[in-house]
Amino acid sequence: MDDLGARARKDGIAAVFDRAAATYDQVGVTFFGTIAEVLVRHTAPQPGERVLDLGCGRGASALRAARAVGPTGRVLATDLAPRMVEGLRSGAGDLPWLTAEVGDAEWPPDGPWDVVQAGLVLFFLPDLDSALDRYRAALGPEGRLGFTWFGDTDESWDPVFDVIVDMLPAAERPPANPARSGPFESVEALENLLHQHGYAEVATTQTRVEALVDDIDQWWAWSWSHGQRRLLEAHQRLGTLGPLRDAVDPLLEEIAGDDGLRWWTDVRCTLARP
Ligand SMILES: C[S@@+](CC[C@H](N)C(=O)[O-])C[C@H]1O[C@@H](n2cnc3c(N)ncnc32)[C@H](O)[C@@H]1O
Repeated sequence: MDDLGARARKDGIAAVFDRAAATYDQVGVTFFGTIAEVLVRHTAPQPGERVLDLGCGRGASALRAARAVGPTGRVLATDLAPRMVEGLRSGAGDLPWLTAEVGDAEWPPDGPWDVVQAGLVLFFLPDLDSALDRYRAALGPEGRLGFTWFGDTDESWDPVFDVIVDMLPAAERPPANPARSGPFESVEALENLLHQHGYAEVATTQTRVEALVDDIDQWWAWSWSHGQRRLLEAHQRLGTLGPLRDAVDPLLEEIAGDDGLRWWTDVRCTLARP
């Protein structure tokens, strides 16, 4: 991808997450917090350590890291979407050793960092190779890189996600999902890439994370609050949101159980040392 293409892709991603920021992780569905707990358990920030949290969103993992390092430590959290950064700042008043700034995860601020961590972010980067080299250079000798990404997901939901894509004209459909292609296609591919970039002690764990959504309305609110928003905005622009709901709601009614709608995904957490 050339520089202009990469810039356009980043601008598009940042704009969608900026519009989602007001409700991101705020609609009552426990999901990003659970994944952040997995990440921070693996990166294990210690009191006094310096942590860089990339693509911080509203701070699911940055806030947890800040509590772990305590006042003698430091957490710098960055995200391309300004309103995500504002959301994190508004929730971090009691953690003055956590700072949040607008920044590109491909360009980590100078270290040395004890921990560089990124929750559900690295698959968005147009130039992951260069970013991995920069993280390695920015990590201290005892440092670790940790990041989460997706494995398998609940296939019983495929008809729902297929309809959302299939009802869009071809030109509006997303290209191959970057979160599941290229190096993110398999654990082996990703770990090989890290080895190629000079990382050692590379290890990946997998945890099944379930999202329990109360009802159909909450599912739609949740869908608008994260990356899926991009597809819903395309439907909105094309005037097909109504027909989309008419097609999706009966599928959701079939999925719904007594306590709501359950969806799961496997979350992989990869840890590596420079
Ligand atoms: C799925 S969210 C994850 C947010 C947060 N880490 C969490 O676990 O809740 C992805 C985030 O990555 C950010 N992002 C995507 N590409 C980025 C880049 N190149 N630099 C910085 N942030 C980026 C988005 O703006 C969004 O906030």
